[in-house]
Amino acid sequence: MGRAHSNAYRQVAPFLSPRLTPRLKVLCGRDAKAVKGAAAKLGWEETATDWREVVSRPDIDIVDVSTPGDSHAEIAIAAAQAGKVVLCEKPLANTVKDAKAMLAAVKKAGVLNMVCHNYRRAPAVQLAKQLIARGDLGKIYHYRGTYLQDWILDPQLPLLWRFQKEKAGSGALGDIASHSIDLARFLVGEITEVAGALETFIKTRPLVANPGKKGRVTVDDAALAVVRFANGALGTIEGTRVAPGRKNYNRFEINGSKGSVAFDLERMNELELFTTADDGAVQGFRKIIVTEPAHHAYIKGWWPPGHIIGYEHTFTHTVYDLLEAMAGKKKSVKPDFEDGVRNQQVLQAIEKAAANRRWAKV
Ligand SMILES: NC(=O)c1ccc[n+]([C@@H]2O[C@H](COP(=O)([O-])OP(=O)(O)OC[C@H]3O[C@@H](n4cnc5c(N)ncnc54)[C@H](O)[C@@H]3O)[C@@H](O)[C@H]2O)c1
Repeated sequence: MGRAHSNAYRQVAPFLSPRLTPRLKVLCGRDAKAVKGAAAKLGWEETATDWREVVSRPDIDIVDVSTPGDSHAEIAIAAAQAGKVVLCEKPLANTVKDAKAMLAAVKKAGVLNMVCHNYRRAPAVQLAKQLIARGDLGKIYHYRGTYLQDWILDPQLPLLWRFQKEKAGSGALGDIASHSIDLARFLVGEITEVAGALETFIKTRPLVANPGKKGRVTVDDAALAVVRFANGALGTIEGTRVAPGRKNYNRFEINGSKGSVAFDLERMNELELFTTADDGAVQGFRKIIVTEPAHHAYIKGWWPPGHIIGYEHTFTHTVYDLLEAMAGKKKSVKPDFEDGVRNQQVLQAIEKAAANRRWAKV
């Protein structure tokens, strides 16, 4: 994410013209040589190996937390206490307790805060949101979210931080199902109750520092949930990192009383729409290319119609909205830490439901 965020800060001003232009001041990592190399490549002015020396510097306005989940709370709370704007990667924390402490800290400090659920800012997702808000889909009945990957299939893939509960919080659940949960909350509404199942198929992996030895995987490889929304809709959410052939299959389908929309990140410039308002003879899913500068969010800063955008643009759009909120002295920009806490509560409820094999309230 260090690369994705750096790219966003570099691209945002020349393309989207926010009122504030970010300056890439200090890149922080753990290894002095590696962080220097990364800073030179990505265009940062300075480097540091201790984030504590950086978060309260008077020449820093935004602290961007893109570390593994176990350090989000400590860094974000220190940054808030120093009066900085905080952009934090998802999931906001590893536990509801930490997420709530982070929310309390940004509220107390009165600083702008945002969670990097970047997929909200794909123009096609924004269009889905507009169609739902306008009532084009009628009453929403279903949300069907799947986020499928296959990058952990090889049992020889070492025991990275992402396989350790104390570092990552959870596996596919927090890593990718959290994005599906965010999209569900953004597009349909609050989730009130869940049933869930988690599974770890590959139970041990070679240690990073000693590949001859194996250590236990303490997070899920796959997470499934059935969810109920406050507005009566019913949904399913699936996150897995062991679906061969599925690389970044972040897809949702939403069905309402008057129509449906479907989105697939691997075809992220398109939105599929079916509406019962169409004449019966020509009814069918239509594919909208969501690249019209006059109609579609964020597009006018980029290319002419049909000259498609990609994954990295979702981060640039996120940073754009953060900068614009700063320039307009806004109190909030979504998704914020409040959303981060709610997302975490859904994650926790799925874990509880899976452990007890019963429905759990969020
Ligand atoms: N928004 C998204 O779509 C998305 C995608 C991938 C990852 N993420 C999130 O981004 C975060 C990072 O994930 P990643 O895939 O980039 O991980 P990564 O392992 O590739 O990178 C983590 C970086 O954090 C640095 N780091 C770790 N501890 C540190 C510390 N104490 N001080 C300074 N630097 C430290 C490491 O040196 C490394 O460069 C996680 O929270 C993850 O869930 C979000």
